[in-house]
Amino acid sequence: MGENNVIGENNMIGGNTVNSLQPVQTTINGHATAAEPGLRPRRMRISPALRQMVRETTLSPADFIYPLFVRYGEGERRPIASMPGQFQLSVDELAREADSVLELGIPAVLLFGIPPEKDWCGSDNFNPHGIVPEAIRALKEAAPELIVISDMCFCEYTDHGHCGIVNSPTVDSYNASLPEGYLLNDPTLELLGRASVVHAEAGADIIAPSAMLDGMVAAIRGALDGAGLAHVPILSYAAKYASSFYGPFREAAESPPSFGDRSQYQMDPANRREALKEVALDAAEGADMIMVKPALPYLDVLAAVREAFNLPTAAYQVSGEYAMLHAAAANGWLDLEKCALESLTSIKRAGADMILTYFAKDAARWLAGKQ
Ligand code: PBG
Repeated sequence: MGENNVIGENNMIGGNTVNSLQPVQTTINGHATAAEPGLRPRRMRISPALRQMVRETTLSPADFIYPLFVRYGEGERRPIASMPGQFQLSVDELAREADSVLELGIPAVLLFGIPPEKDWCGSDNFNPHGIVPEAIRALKEAAPELIVISDMCFCEYTDHGHCGIVNSPTVDSYNASLPEGYLLNDPTLELLGRASVVHAEAGADIIAPSAMLDGMVAAIRGALDGAGLAHVPILSYAAKYASSFYGPFREAAESPPSFGDRSQYQMDPANRREALKEVALDAAEGADMIMVKPALPYLDVLAAVREAFNLPTAAYQVSGEYAMLHAAAANGWLDLEKCALESLTSIKRAGADMILTYFAKDAARWLAGKQ
């Protein structure tokens, strides 16, 4: 039998000699009879226990932040058609939800408000008795330990659906040198500061500005500090893209822009270096935590941000990511539990310390079932 061991300079992988492993390949008449003994990674996959022992990334309900939609009214629990299992809840129903979230080990919720009336400047957002301040008070009363994060943006509150004051001759801050329909940056900053103080005074534990306006973190930090709320942290949606994956959310929050889109202020999906610049600015302005959004289509951005900044980093698995998994599962094309957990694991593996996800409750149950 022409058995021989091929060693030394013949052990080339991709043109490089693998010196550290010095594997020996057994061949018969030039055909391999066995894999190289030093190169058998399957050894570590032979049983569930072994796979668990060497697992690099694990998910826990403590990683999740659960987004909730609160609407005006009472006893309301309206299903959101494009987001199966998610609801618009009235304040009373929301308070009931708090317990089940905590029981599952999920530490935090993120609130979006659907006000009874929308206007040009989104005044419900800075009304101390607006929908979100009321919801915050109810949640803090029902479950004081639950962390309540307030999504700070105007798109759910304005009649045009944009994230602040829009340039028009009818508004006080009209700027004739900017196009009509342009989102006015600095006049909106003032309102973001005001609304943040109102939400924090109602009991919000964290303010999460999501408008992608220049200077929003500094403006909110200044307003909070000025109101004696220096202890309230800011989670900035620092790298938020103008993504079409927000489609179902806009139905959920009743907030589609009535004209144009959000590409004037949210980031171009094609850009990665720009995300590092946006995060650097928000960090310099005092952001305590930063976020990349959406998650799955932007894992490269998430990994780069995590690598470059020493700040707790969140990723938002958005409505469209949730909806597509549900749609495929409803057709019998994907296993919902497995694919949702795989997506969440990928997001964590890419560097997320926290994941905002509509799967939070389901995933917490699935994970509990696994143990
Ligand atoms: C803005 C906001 C949006 C989302 C979270 N905050 C919508 C947008 O920017 O258009 C989207 C979240 C999702 O799609 O799940 N307030």
